[in-house]
Amino acid sequence: MFKIKFLPYNLEVFASPEETIIEIAMRCGIHINASCGGAGACNKCKIIIEEGKVKGEVIDNNFYKACQTFPLSDLRVRIPVESYIDKRAEFLKPKKKASFLSKEIEKLPEPPFKKLYLKLQPPTIEENFSDWIRIKYTLEKEKILNPELNINILRKLPYVLREKNFEITLNLYYDLRKDRYYLIDIESGNKVSQNLGVAVDLGTTTLQLELIDLNTGEVLASISDYNPQISYGEDVISRIEFAKRKDGLKILANSVKEKIGFLIDEMLKATKKNFDSINLISVAGNTVMSHLFLELEPKYLREYPYTPVTTEFPLIFAKELGLPFKDSTLIQLAPCKASYMGGDIVAGIVASRMAEEEPLTLFIDLGTNGEIVLGNREFLICASCSAGPAFEGGGIKNGIRAVSGAIEAVNIDPITFEPMILTINKKPPKGICGSGIISLLANLFKVGIIDKAG
Ligand code: FES
Repeated sequence: MFKIKFLPYNLEVFASPEETIIEIAMRCGIHINASCGGAGACNKCKIIIEEGKVKGEVIDNNFYKACQTFPLSDLRVRIPVESYIDKRAEFLKPKKKASFLSKEIEKLPEPPFKKLYLKLQPPTIEENFSDWIRIKYTLEKEKILNPELNINILRKLPYVLREKNFEITLNLYYDLRKDRYYLIDIESGNKVSQNLGVAVDLGTTTLQLELIDLNTGEVLASISDYNPQISYGEDVISRIEFAKRKDGLKILANSVKEKIGFLIDEMLKATKKNFDSINLISVAGNTVMSHLFLELEPKYLREYPYTPVTTEFPLIFAKELGLPFKDSTLIQLAPCKASYMGGDIVAGIVASRMAEEEPLTLFIDLGTNGEIVLGNREFLICASCSAGPAFEGGGIKNGIRAVSGAIEAVNIDPITFEPMILTINKKPPKGICGSGIISLLANLFKVGIIDKAG
């Protein structure tokens, strides 16, 4: 075993000579950019070996590729600034209420999870129905017919009912597609006020979460951070490749689940709420991200004829995914429409209400994966493509994100072809970002250096 010191973090770990530097960094939570999933193709995982011996290929300016470099002795490894990004969680200013994207409407639809307080009549010798029938009859008066229940609820039912003299709170989930209620949990007394939900936008690059009071629709906190899977590949294709490695799928799933758990914890601390108040976590992501979150095999999404394992996801208890919530906390994933038409765009269609209205609407979700939908209540037509590389400089030798020093605008003199460039924050140029590439292409076209075919 060798001792590896990572700078600028001053973090020391022990590692075996079989591990690459990027694997060691991942293991201890250090981020290094990796667009190609560790295949050695993108050159974004540059590191500097300040002390010690390694086995690996030297690239420009004496950098090594972290994904291709193995330790041969104790090391001092510096991660240059261009190889990492700021990944601190950032609280966002919460909106007052959960709302539709463009509409102020009076009444939000009912959330699928609700709590119902019941004060039941205790049994007598004249009326001694079973405990469950007593609840079922009362629910019928609330127009909730034959909810599904599981054996665990029946096992605890007699004790919970008698704990507070037949005053109980039912935790119910309504499945809109099946038009059916599920009894998820039963609590003694009136627990209606403890009813929080979390909405998760599971982006390829960014995670955005909101903590919502499911009784009032109030957004209590909102937080955003990088998706930690970015350390294993910047786009979905690189992550599918990474998932093919031994334990790759598990590593990807665990990293994003851990980060979601951490972000929820941050929101709970900020609002002084506890984990047990969370009843529902609602996740929307593209088809690949949804597969990775649930640890479903994603590789056939990449191979002809591009089939996902599923586009509909079952209701899952958070504990089944190893998330640190109470036994009855549920996770629902927005259904996907196709291999590259995910739950995120489906959620956007629902939130924009474009499928309910007469006027034509164009809905564009321009994330790392871009989706575009056109339609109204009569039809919807969708397309998707990889948008991130166009806007983050991916696949370009000197492409970088829009960070300080990235070329963001280019002008070309039509006579001399002399270029003029502007960089972000007016720092010395260190690469070109997406807007710089678009500006460069436009100007190359304008002065006639390229034509419409390139
Ligand atoms: S070259 Fe190392 S991750 Fe791409």
